[in-house]
Amino acid sequence: MKVAALKKPGGLDNIETVDRDTPEAGPGEILVKVANSSLNYHDYVVAQGGIPTEDDRILMSDGAGEVVAVGEGASGFKTGDHVVSLFFPNWEDGNGFDYRRAGVPGDHVDGFAAEYVAAPARAFTRAPKGYSDAEAATLPCAALTAWRGLMVAGSCKPGDIVLVQGSGGVSIFALQFAKAAGATVIATSSSGEKLERLKDLGADHLINYKETPDWGKAALQWTGGRGVDHVVEIGGPGTLTQSIYACRSGAHIALIGVLTGVSGEVPTALFFSKNLVMTGITVGSKTDQQAMIEAIEANDIRPVIDSHFPLDKLADAFRHQEAQKHFGKIVVDIPG
Ligand SMILES: NC(=O)c1ccc[n+]([C@@H]2O[C@H](COP(=O)([O-])OP(=O)(O)OC[C@H]3O[C@@H](n4cnc5c(N)ncnc54)[C@H](OP(=O)(O)O)[C@@H]3O)[C@@H](O)[C@H]2O)c1
Repeated sequence: MKVAALKKPGGLDNIETVDRDTPEAGPGEILVKVANSSLNYHDYVVAQGGIPTEDDRILMSDGAGEVVAVGEGASGFKTGDHVVSLFFPNWEDGNGFDYRRAGVPGDHVDGFAAEYVAAPARAFTRAPKGYSDAEAATLPCAALTAWRGLMVAGSCKPGDIVLVQGSGGVSIFALQFAKAAGATVIATSSSGEKLERLKDLGADHLINYKETPDWGKAALQWTGGRGVDHVVEIGGPGTLTQSIYACRSGAHIALIGVLTGVSGEVPTALFFSKNLVMTGITVGSKTDQQAMIEAIEANDIRPVIDSHFPLDKLADAFRHQEAQKHFGKIVVDIPG
């Protein structure tokens, strides 16, 4: 079978499409014919060599496809079922303890840039009804992170005001979940054209964060001084201060992303004077993914797919992501 693996020391030029033996479903495992994967920032950091992995690691955390064999004692799925992977195959439910967050595909273990994957049946959920494999492959990392940050940790409810940053995978899912929950959404982007597309998806107020560096204060002003109830924080240290300005007293910040760096200053006094709550989010559990899939079906939410790249052009897909030209999710089509 064909796989896309990372030759050491990493870097997009070191992604190779190579042949590997097709795996078989062992006891407790299912064999999935992978149809699609999708890109996340995490996959990009792995591909760049920014997260150390074993040599020749098969890339990509997310995958979706059809069950083609069921190993002895594996339960929950039958051949012909369409399944979607879990970012944390060992996190069934409850708290995200370290041991539950071990075994991330495409990082700790081989991932879904492969024609076939054999893995424990518990490492998958069903795909949403009516979804293509390409649509399902957008969910495990980006959608679940948005879901957990906004709906599980944040308990977003009708009438709330939600701030989402930019037009990448996590933020567009957050916008869609917020609108489905009956919230008002303020969306930011670096691009006027992308802002118009965010408006088409239901964003109620738009701010160009390049043209308006004080976008947090602008968001606060747009709410008439009330402030937002939730921030889906994907920028990190370079955006957190503006996010805190945007918040109302008691608001929730889902701390998710590191697009501007991994550490920085926090306006501590402003944070506590607003009685804010901040939750660090690491994707989510299997239970969270199952709940999200039910919500996706109930609200007929469809992922926004920016583009498709074939498996042997995975490096080009990452270059497209790196250029931040995308709007929503970039999907990988796996042949066979
Ligand atoms: N903690 C977790 O569990 C978890 C899970 C998933 C992702 N993440 C993190 O969340 C972040 C986003 O991931 P993703 O997969 O959605 O990435 P992505 O699809 O590559 O999104 C990138 C987009 O973010 C926007 N952006 C970049 N810098 C920004 C800034 N300073 N302010 C506002 N928006 C900015 C840009 O949108 P415009 O082009 O519209 O400006 C850009 O296109 C990454 O840091 C990733 O590591 C964390």
